[in-house]
Amino acid sequence: MDPAGRYSQVMFDFAPSSPADTPARKATLYADLIFAAGAVMKGEKDAVANMANVAALIWQFLPDLNWAGFYRHVDGELVLGPFQGKPACIRIPVGRGVCGAAAATLETQLVADVHAFPGHIACDAASASEIVVPVVRDGKLLAVIDLDSPTPARFDTQDAQGLERLAASVAEALS
Ligand code: SME
Repeated sequence: MDPAGRYSQVMFDFAPSSPADTPARKATLYADLIFAAGAVMKGEKDAVANMANVAALIWQFLPDLNWAGFYRHVDGELVLGPFQGKPACIRIPVGRGVCGAAAATLETQLVADVHAFPGHIACDAASASEIVVPVVRDGKLLAVIDLDSPTPARFDTQDAQGLERLAASVAEALS
């Protein structure tokens, strides 16, 4: 018996409907990504499960990434969460590197050239540019979303805005 439908098998099959080659198409891509993330998190409270599915969707939807995932804010430091890509640094102090800067300021960090960023932590030598978006609820830091790309200046303000909307929907699901 499964009256609440809790254990029903759901196959998620989302795909981006648009490439990211113009601002209009990129807007559609983020709308698709945010819709898919809302659908996979709907009714689910487990934070690891939700972050894992969102990391997988980011990896599937956004082109030209070599790492995508979460660092969780645990006992005053950042601890590696669900991700896609190569194994990464496990603990990052708040204030260190790009992730630590996002955690300390609660502001998105858009880094065109990671080698020019003071204190950048190189987890994957292939990374050339990076964006880190804090996941904040009621002024409290829950996690950060970190995306790395092998292409310099891969991320722009449209990515920042799209990922901030995604982070807001993750924040709602995590609390
Ligand atoms: N480059 C990050 C560390 C995390 S990895 O990119 C996965 C930073 O400087 O915080």
